[in-house]
Amino acid sequence: MAQCILSWIDVAKLPPMTPEPAPTIKQLLAFYLEAGVDCALADEAVNRLSDPAAVAAPAASEPALPQPVRPQPAVMPAPRGEVAAAPEAAIASARDAARTAPSLEALRALLETFDGCALKHTATRLVFSDGNPQARIMFVGEAPGRDEDIEGLPFVGRSGKLLDRMIATIGLDRSKAYIANVIPWRPPGNRTPTPQETQICLPFIQRQIELVNPDVLVTLGNPSTQTLLQTREGIMRTRGKWLNYDTGTRTIRAIATFHPAYLLRSPSYKRMTWLDLRAIAKALEQTTP
Ligand code: URA
Repeated sequence: MAQCILSWIDVAKLPPMTPEPAPTIKQLLAFYLEAGVDCALADEAVNRLSDPAAVAAPAASEPALPQPVRPQPAVMPAPRGEVAAAPEAAIASARDAARTAPSLEALRALLETFDGCALKHTATRLVFSDGNPQARIMFVGEAPGRDEDIEGLPFVGRSGKLLDRMIATIGLDRSKAYIANVIPWRPPGNRTPTPQETQICLPFIQRQIELVNPDVLVTLGNPSTQTLLQTREGIMRTRGKWLNYDTGTRTIRAIATFHPAYLLRSPSYKRMTWLDLRAIAKALEQTTP
């Protein structure tokens, strides 16, 4: 039967598996980088499509291929939206630590020594913040990506360049804005942070907002909006609406807008983002100190 099907299909006439024109090595590498694949797992390339048996079971005399070390989150992810009980101790210790930080420098130093979040051990460095701590406006994203992990600064990659252009449309730049993320370490391979990791990092970003004490807080994208503004609604519904963010010592005007990375993929939403930015500019004018 198989032979019959094979003789019926003229293999030479099948469409090629590789798109035409075939991508260059540079384009392929750019694609991998974009997808978060940015490190080699072994010195030698392995063709996993060639002979599955050979790859699955190397001969006893062959040295085993070095296995990729897959960084594990501190605890297993709970179902989406739920927080497992296991990291309670880490969350409590994050709360206690963050509360005691009297300044941004102290908070940064605390995070450098905090060991309750496993992301710290897979990230290259802490990505604490950028911009002006005296700024009247603070932007908060989700978590650093590859470029941010290398430089130790938030929003320096492609989406960061777009964020700079967004900020420029309301006459600001990084010397007049403060930028941070809910999660200060890059999740491996840019995976979505687990709810537990988010809960562990939350007290630190909350304290950071309290210490910066901006007049306007802007959450970028769904994860940071849902986490900081305590809503389950999606960004399509929450964006562009003014909400109150309570630091514990003051109520700050807060607004959500689209994440620049999302805008890079869906440029048609830039129009709505522009409306949000106009609203933000107006709010800043109205609260001129
Ligand atoms: N995306 C984020 O949410 N934060 C960054 O710092 C970079 C990309």
